[in-house]
Amino acid sequence: MPRSLFVPSVMASVAILASVVDAASVENAFEPYFESFEELWETWSREIMYLSAIFLILCTHFVGKRHNEILAKTTMAVMLPLFRANFARVGDNGAELAIDAPHEYIIYLTGRRHVATVHGLIKMKPRQDLIRTLLTFFQAPVQDTCTLNVTMNPDEYSDGVFAVVPKLSGTQLRSKFYDLNTFTKASNQNTLDDSLITLTESSELTDAILPLVSERLNKAAKWLDYFVVSDQPMYKPETLASQPYAKRISLSFRMPSHKNAREIVPLVEALIACLDGLPQECHVSTVIKSKISKAREEAERELSKKAQAERARELEEKRTREKREAEKSLSPDAQRKLAAKEEKKALKKRQKTVVKRG
Ligand SMILES: *[C@@H]1O[C@H](CO)[C@@H](O)[C@H](O)[C@H]1NC(C)=O
Repeated sequence: MPRSLFVPSVMASVAILASVVDAASVENAFEPYFESFEELWETWSREIMYLSAIFLILCTHFVGKRHNEILAKTTMAVMLPLFRANFARVGDNGAELAIDAPHEYIIYLTGRRHVATVHGLIKMKPRQDLIRTLLTFFQAPVQDTCTLNVTMNPDEYSDGVFAVVPKLSGTQLRSKFYDLNTFTKASNQNTLDDSLITLTESSELTDAILPLVSERLNKAAKWLDYFVVSDQPMYKPETLASQPYAKRISLSFRMPSHKNAREIVPLVEALIACLDGLPQECHVSTVIKSKISKAREEAERELSKKAQAERARELEEKRTREKREAEKSLSPDAQRKLAAKEEKKALKKRQKTVVKRG
């Protein structure tokens, strides 16, 4: 429950309580107390229901918020030694973990060789919000997840798209992410856990990157959502970029309960291993390099074609709109004439098709 709702709901419960007490004391002057629960219920059923609902909402708020806070802080605590050892700056304005909402915490890291910044997000079930929690029963289940986006320095290793994903959700992820969808193919790897596959643009990329991460990803395979090394955007760009896209490594995993928080450490270790590993190991041959850059040119052509088609469609729409506006501004008489003319046209067309069919 957002803070803005919290104060009014407390005030509402106080007000209802006050009215109950007030009314009860007035009645007291004339009659004895309620004789039975039925009588009490008859008189105050609405108020009792409101009070219980408010009580439930408040309880959920405090218990849920606390649950999420403990989960976020424990997960951060198991990652923190790795972050501290690798980054000069962990967090912003003194807080290592910044709260964005009771179910969303932000991680920010910077100050490391080869790395520009790391943006992370711990996003949990909205446990603090009774209504939203109830609503999530009807939607796709929400998971407690942590995502880390590393923006790497440009030009320190080869371009290319490479990912390790769970076999079960791989196809779905591939269709969701533009870079995976456009540039990669799925393949099985015998050094990976049975539940994982790679999506890769070239086997040379796989050979360079997989040894850096396979063992560690295997150790925590059941928590992995995706591990992606990419020089292309995750979501399809609307317009052509004027400069190269940022090179990034993205890691996303589901979070175990706070008691088992340590289980995700190998995943973060895999990510950290790439910070030096990619600049050292990931340099593909000239042949593959030109293949990769050709794929980007092709994708760019595709995007610009789409952009042009979109522009043409918008222009067409604008023209129709303007025509309609112009018609509206005609005198009623002229409008009637125009309508009659168009009707005639339509009639002729219909007759023609009837004749043809006949
Ligand atoms: C990570 O990057 C993706 C794509 O650029 C973005 O949609 C997502 O919000 C980012 N996540 C975080 C935590 O910064």
